[in-house]
Amino acid sequence: MRSVALFGVLSTFIWLPDAIAVKSHDFKTCSQSGFCRRGRALAARAEETTSWNSPYSIDPSSLIFSPDEALVSAAVKSSLYPDIKFSLELRIHEDGVVRVLMDEIDGLKQRYNEAADWALVSDPRLSKTINWTTGKKDLRAVYGDKKDIELVVQYDPLRVTLLRNKKEQIVLNGRGLLHMEHFRTETAKETSEEVASEEGGEGQEVLQVENVRAWFEGDTEDAYWSESFSSWTDSKPKGPESLSLDITFPNHGHVYGIPQHATNLSLPSTTGESPSYSDPFRLYNADVFEYLASSPMSLYGSIPVMHAHSADSTVGLFNAVGSETWIDISYPSEKSTQTHWISESGIMDISLLPGPTPEDVFAQYARLTGTTALPPHWSLGYHQCRWNYVSSEDVRTVQKRFDEEDMPVDVFWLDIEYAQDHKYFIWEPKTFPDPVEMTNDVAANARKMVVIVDPHLKRTSDYPVYQEASDFGLLVKPNSGEGEYEGWCWSGSSSWIDHFNPASWDWWISKFKTTKLDSGFSWIQSTEDVHIWNDMNEPSIFNGPEITMQKDTIHYGGWEHRDIHNINGMLFHNNTAAAVRERGDIPKRPFVLTRSFFAGSQRISAMWTGDNLGTWEHMAVGIKMVLANNIAGMAFAGSDVGGFFGNPEPEMLIRWYQVGIFSPFFRAHAHIDTKRREPFLLDEPYKSIVRDLLRLRYTMLPIWYTAFRENSVTGLPIVRPHYVVFPKDSTGFDIDDQFFIGSSGILVKPVTEKEQTEVTVYLPEDQVYYDYFTQQIYRGTNKGKHITVPAELHQVPVFIRGGSILPTRERPRRSSPLMKYDPFTLRVALSKSGTARGELYLDDGITYSHQQGELVWREFAAEQPSRKTTRITNRDLASSKPDTAVDGVDLVKYDPKNAFAKDIAEVRVEKVVVLGLSSKPGSVKVDGKGTELRWEYIPGAAASEKKDGAAASVLIIKDPKVLVTEEWAIVIS
Ligand code: NOJ
Repeated sequence: MRSVALFGVLSTFIWLPDAIAVKSHDFKTCSQSGFCRRGRALAARAEETTSWNSPYSIDPSSLIFSPDEALVSAAVKSSLYPDIKFSLELRIHEDGVVRVLMDEIDGLKQRYNEAADWALVSDPRLSKTINWTTGKKDLRAVYGDKKDIELVVQYDPLRVTLLRNKKEQIVLNGRGLLHMEHFRTETAKETSEEVASEEGGEGQEVLQVENVRAWFEGDTEDAYWSESFSSWTDSKPKGPESLSLDITFPNHGHVYGIPQHATNLSLPSTTGESPSYSDPFRLYNADVFEYLASSPMSLYGSIPVMHAHSADSTVGLFNAVGSETWIDISYPSEKSTQTHWISESGIMDISLLPGPTPEDVFAQYARLTGTTALPPHWSLGYHQCRWNYVSSEDVRTVQKRFDEEDMPVDVFWLDIEYAQDHKYFIWEPKTFPDPVEMTNDVAANARKMVVIVDPHLKRTSDYPVYQEASDFGLLVKPNSGEGEYEGWCWSGSSSWIDHFNPASWDWWISKFKTTKLDSGFSWIQSTEDVHIWNDMNEPSIFNGPEITMQKDTIHYGGWEHRDIHNINGMLFHNNTAAAVRERGDIPKRPFVLTRSFFAGSQRISAMWTGDNLGTWEHMAVGIKMVLANNIAGMAFAGSDVGGFFGNPEPEMLIRWYQVGIFSPFFRAHAHIDTKRREPFLLDEPYKSIVRDLLRLRYTMLPIWYTAFRENSVTGLPIVRPHYVVFPKDSTGFDIDDQFFIGSSGILVKPVTEKEQTEVTVYLPEDQVYYDYFTQQIYRGTNKGKHITVPAELHQVPVFIRGGSILPTRERPRRSSPLMKYDPFTLRVALSKSGTARGELYLDDGITYSHQQGELVWREFAAEQPSRKTTRITNRDLASSKPDTAVDGVDLVKYDPKNAFAKDIAEVRVEKVVVLGLSSKPGSVKVDGKGTELRWEYIPGAAASEKKDGAAASVLIIKDPKVLVTEEWAIVIS
């Protein structure tokens, strides 16, 4: 193999990060991408032409309704190409979502139509209550519980409008930019040109048609049949097949979503209004070296979901498309948003999510693509990674140092250097001679390992994983459709498994078995304490166009890579997660971190924002990116703490830990060329500051886990921006530097600028907010209010919204599983009216026994039955919400005396801290028990007071001798 021999030379090249540096100019702008250029040119022509009309129309005589009318189909024509047939299908789901599908019928080829098969969690249930009215000009359906939603399908020109309360919410093709380029033969244009140049007769007619086409499509065949970029030529054997569509959100002045981009949460314009990018947002999974901290450029993952928001409505949109897609955004007025979606290939498959609240949109999207399955509980702890811990001894030493410094950590990570010649699964024997013993040493402290498995397989016969994949014909094929596609990555000359091929699934699963197979390789040099990191799965290919796979390579079913590019990474991590889940006798929750992702990835994996830079800008944008991913369902998200590139000074590192402990996924990671920066290496006072931060994360694990549970059931984000929590408060619509954690009531504003000693925090409502650490009170107003709070290096602004009860575990431990039987502290932060509530969800955190009802789900509440009495209660929430599914399981099965509840039956509440009581109590007792509890009262401001900065009154109830799994009431009078 010539290329393998070459690798000896090239490996040096691959090792030097500067040599592989890919800057923005290695990636296309819209003007360098043929179909994007065509899409934008069409929009420009529409803009210039006052009488612009879409050429697409519905033939009303072709309407066919399903018996229950939830599905209607129609023939669509384009006046440009009267002989080309298109079909339109509208489906109305039970929850009001409208799915709009359009395809070319009997074309020369089939457009890619499988994106939704990968993205959707199941077949959506169609409504049974739809009645269409067919008029002369349009087709209408009024539906919804309040009959407030109306769908209008105009025939000519074709236009689809979703209205609520007679107000337009979402309009498809309102600007007439719909264009589905039909399949054609390369000679077609030539022939018609020849005919057109003849004089008179038929030729004249063709000329007219050509003029019409020129008016709509432009007068050149711009990059129809092949396209070059840099030294690459895309052969484009299918010719032009792009799809462009304008989607307008009248009455909605903000749009969010379409991760992943390093940009503001509220998406900036791309068409000129200030502030604006000049290129559209791009969705094309890409490994962008040293990506910019503000850019519409595509990054590693793509989720084509968008929210449009205004003070009285939130609607959403899911575009099930797997090919490269560009999205222009413009704001013609403060109250309206126009978008223009341009995709390279695929059918139209767009779901309109009618809202009307953010909560509804999350539920509607969750019903389409699913929610995050509850991850293993330990994966919410702290993850320590670097490229690379170089030997098993190195891993042991790092673990020892954490323990010596009393710093909690749950997971040690191994990057690509554990693998001999980057042949994943195969340990480098010189440095990792004892992988199983090493893992066991880590597991002895109730910790885990995460080990990287990348998708590129080194093409060498002494690598069984490659050889088997080759023998079984499981690899992606080059554009000839024959043989094996070859490209370059860490392992030199490599090939890639085609995870679209169902034959690859069981085979891939078998590679992770920790026991010997009858035949073939399995990972016997691993244990069930090893979990997996899937990187480079865009896929990243060092010598490919835009550092990825050529678009004309061939996947299972004959589809081109162009059609499935953005879905590709998801299949890899999905199959890996299935493998990790199924490798032992009892299925256990897998942890898989992925860099590339698509709609649906959330069901099974965590993501991180890739190779960020050690700069303040990257720290700040990481928060926005995590929020945007949460909006798009990809909730288990985080950024590399410390920044992947660079050597952060202690101040920056500490601020980065302050960001990290408030991210759903919390991992420190660093590039191979950086200096070691594990937190135990810091000098004082920095070391102690980070220790406290790590401990704070662990203290709050019950809050995080409860937020993960809620996300797994409702799709509501784990970290929530203001517009989600306060959808009517327009001041919050642009805020993306402070956020709430689940429904807990915790509000965080991490500091992401150098040398800050104070920050401004926005309080969105007339409610009291308590400083988490000092218990000082701040009171917002109905119109919202900004407060300035101290933020020295050791301080991270964290507030508890009045009316919340936070369950925490305050005993420092080495790792989270060791906290299983630890007692709880309840922080009861009274609202201005003296009430509060909170939730706590627990299960074994490892298996799927929670799906059999083995769980504990409690509600804590504080009420004031009389002016002088406050009652704090604990009740079972699981048995009172039998209709709510936890992670797909009906709580009807739930028994309060389930095995898990019994296991933690002795776990008690060791402390209750009540903030904001109006006066010193006379007595504190458990209801029904005569004995006075031990308590201490520190006088201070009541929850109802408006004294910003004053310390709240604090009542500390010590060891009330109440259990977490029991009903009780503590009476303060
Ligand atoms: C790229 C990933 O983004 C980075 O996190 C990793 O360390 C390197 N690949 C090496 O595996």
